[in-house]
Amino acid sequence: MESAFRSADIANAPTACSAVQVNRPRLPASPADQIRHLSMTTRTLRIAMNGVTGRMGYRQHLLRSILPLRESGLTADDGSRVAVEPILVGRSADKLADMAAEHGIEHWTTDVASVIADPSVEVYFDAQVTSRRFEALTAAIKAGKHVYTEKPTAETLTEAVELARMAQNAGITAGVVHDKLYLPGLVKLRRLVDEGFFGRILSMRGEFGYWVFEGDGQPAQRPSWNYRAQDGGGITVDMFCHWNYVMEGILGKVETVTAKAVTHIPTRWDEAHQPYPVTADDAVYGIFDISGGIVAQINSSWAVRVFRDELVEFQVDGTHGSAVAGLRRCRAQHRVHTPKPVWNPDLPATEQFRDQWLEVPDNAVLDNGFKLQWEEYLRDVLAARPHRYDLLSAARGVQLAELGLKSSTEGRRLDVPEIVL
Ligand SMILES: NC(=O)c1ccc[n+]([C@@H]2O[C@H](COP(=O)([O-])OP(=O)(O)OC[C@H]3O[C@@H](n4cnc5c(N)ncnc54)[C@H](O)[C@@H]3O)[C@@H](O)[C@H]2O)c1
Repeated sequence: MESAFRSADIANAPTACSAVQVNRPRLPASPADQIRHLSMTTRTLRIAMNGVTGRMGYRQHLLRSILPLRESGLTADDGSRVAVEPILVGRSADKLADMAAEHGIEHWTTDVASVIADPSVEVYFDAQVTSRRFEALTAAIKAGKHVYTEKPTAETLTEAVELARMAQNAGITAGVVHDKLYLPGLVKLRRLVDEGFFGRILSMRGEFGYWVFEGDGQPAQRPSWNYRAQDGGGITVDMFCHWNYVMEGILGKVETVTAKAVTHIPTRWDEAHQPYPVTADDAVYGIFDISGGIVAQINSSWAVRVFRDELVEFQVDGTHGSAVAGLRRCRAQHRVHTPKPVWNPDLPATEQFRDQWLEVPDNAVLDNGFKLQWEEYLRDVLAARPHRYDLLSAARGVQLAELGLKSSTEGRRLDVPEIVL
């Protein structure tokens, strides 16, 4: 139970941003005023979406999140109905025009500065390549926009912290994609922690990855910039910011990191079928100390073939039970259902170990994780309050990636100091 309470405290604790003052109207005080307020005409929240022609920007953010929200609308905390209107922003006029026509979107532009200067646009969203993010977010925050962004928020910790500071000083609502915590598998894993299922949590092991084709024969299924350090690529930078909030959100604060980052595949072929040298790491093997004596070990690789049920899986072991969570499923085994295998290499295994785990039921409709976080973030914007997964949380992710790479280069374990804004 001890660890359950600890991690619940971490996830529910107000972040440093809770002190932010946002100058927005408060709910009317008297019931009569509230009734008048609720019958107010629907408001429209205009969201500039930059990088929407990319893989994440298009599939997860536009298609799976904002377009369904445009259909359904949002209900703010005060009960009022709010419409959502995307404005597509990017570099290619042709692609944006086609996308706008296909989805019946009225506004698109290649001029980022114009949407940032437009007072009718309240939220700026960024899913561009990482290397472009700091400059774009800085401009949006300075213009007083609320910002929602993909991770990592910046290429360096200094810039990530600077963004968090700017957002705090500007008093805007800032949110950073923490999609893994909204995945059905991890929602159920977190539920087990909250219920005290594990007893004292001992360890977590994570396996993430799949084979990303080199691009010479079959085309690569990820963009080539992912494999060039000079363009913001690398699996440590990409995944450690996820693993930081996963460990914080499920188990507790990450205290140390030991990592080995490697480039297994030295040459890949880009979108124009031209060979290029891989300058970024394509696998990282990390060990983390988590508060309360928990040890986590996570392998991340784009050069591994999948012998798992899902592309990412986390196993948590505790004194009273264990669970294995993927993107969607979560299976658990309690102490009383734990078999007692005896090591004997001379005999074949007599038990079907996988059959001894019980499925954890959904018990709720678990929608697309990106969409769920968008809804929560937009409700936070409407209520003029901070979002729980903010730029400070994102900076801790960038910090873990930076320290992971340093640990790998120097071949030693590093402490993760607390970031104070
Ligand atoms: N949350 C997640 O699970 C997750 C998964 C993958 C990627 N991401 C993040 O999302 C962001 C976008 O990744 P993606 O996989 O969609 O990439 P992508 O290459 O498919 O898309 C990149 C987008 O940035 C735009 N762009 C702007 N300047 C560019 C430039 N100089 N070169 C190339 N593209 C440029 C492109 O037009 C495109 O819209 C990255 O920051 C990445 O870290 C998050």
